[in-house]
Amino acid sequence: MARIEFIDEGKTIEIAAGQSILEAAMDNGVDLDHACGGVCACSTCHVKIRQGAAHFSESTEEEEDQLDDARDIELCSRLGCQTRLQAETEEIIRVQIPFWNVNLVQEGPDAARAKD
Ligand code: FES
Repeated sequence: MARIEFIDEGKTIEIAAGQSILEAAMDNGVDLDHACGGVCACSTCHVKIRQGAAHFSESTEEEEDQLDDARDIELCSRLGCQTRLQAETEEIIRVQIPFWNVNLVQEGPDAARAKD
């Protein structure tokens, strides 16, 4: 096991080795959008790993292509559904859900489109 702190949500959850950030979030009541169901066909599960990124699987070319379409990407950006914990760690992993994605979950896709 390891622990992920979702910074803006003020919530810390557990994640098992081999589990994705999206799976851990869904199992623990953290709202992380996942429009394609976690098959790397959208970018709505975009997260920023602020601490502990080295504990996760490396991104694939397919993930990088999807991230190119995400808003507000940074070097620490990943797709939550594609980012799997490699092994247990004592380090607290700190993750941020981009503000735009939080709005999408809370207000729905129509509200997000209206802001474009
Ligand atoms: S849920 Fe669609 S890419 Fe992660």
